[in-house]
Amino acid sequence: MNPLQVATVVADPASVDAAITSRFSCRAFLRDRDVPRETVLEILEVASRAPSGTNTQPWRAYVLQGATRDALADKVCAAHDAIYADPAVAAQYTEEYEYYPTKWVSPYIDRRRENGWGLYGLLGIAKGEKDKMHAQHQRNFRFFDAPVGLMFTMDRILGRGSLMDYGMFLENVMVAARARGLHTCPQAAWNGFSRIILPHVGAGEGEMLVCGMSLGYADLQAPVNTFHTPREPAASFTRWVE
Ligand SMILES: Cc1cc2nc3c(=O)[nH]c(=O)nc-3n(C[C@H](O)[C@H](O)[C@H](O)COP(=O)(O)O)c2cc1C
Repeated sequence: MNPLQVATVVADPASVDAAITSRFSCRAFLRDRDVPRETVLEILEVASRAPSGTNTQPWRAYVLQGATRDALADKVCAAHDAIYADPAVAAQYTEEYEYYPTKWVSPYIDRRRENGWGLYGLLGIAKGEKDKMHAQHQRNFRFFDAPVGLMFTMDRILGRGSLMDYGMFLENVMVAARARGLHTCPQAAWNGFSRIILPHVGAGEGEMLVCGMSLGYADLQAPVNTFHTPREPAASFTRWVE
């Protein structure tokens, strides 16, 4: 074991907690405030300290900035618009793994609805305003204007456990971003469009898309960034076994 790790004292626990608790899904970024490559690499470097079963390290990251980012956004927005115009087109775009359950039950469906309507309510989008909902959903495919778009893949041959490892890596990315004044939004919205995304980023044959992520400086004036999601208190999901 690296003695630096075992001997490290976290001198300022409050800062660690602040980095974790100030992470939220940012949905409006400052488009023109770029993030240097070195910063992105540093975040990914720190994040790669995530544990993984037998140290398999299943993560692979593609970073999109500038023209390549915009070109991908254009392609996926066009596909998203085509589905909106003709829902039958959606059959061309399938997710490689089921992120969400096929059958929704309480309490998850309730939380999902609360989340969706809370966000739309904040944006002044009422039930039935489909064009507005489509436009808001499409913001995903512009990376919410973030200057950095990330696409995360892993080898398809890996097991379900690797997705668990991946989640730890992704959380590390988001927390390390916070430590540098940056914000993020993890995005499964991209997953259905992997047949566009994987060739665009130059992913290999055996890779599957895990999710996308927006990274940048938050727009502090944007109302959407005031959206704060609730959590069940720890005492309600914890049982002391005695
Ligand atoms: C893997 C993953 C995928 C997500 N995909 C999206 C997405 O595509 N678009 C989006 O706006 N939010 C997305 N979210 C954000 C969730 O809606 C959000 O994490 C949840 O509502 C809790 O809010 P918070 O992140 O602000 O704490 C995703 C979150 C995770 C962990």
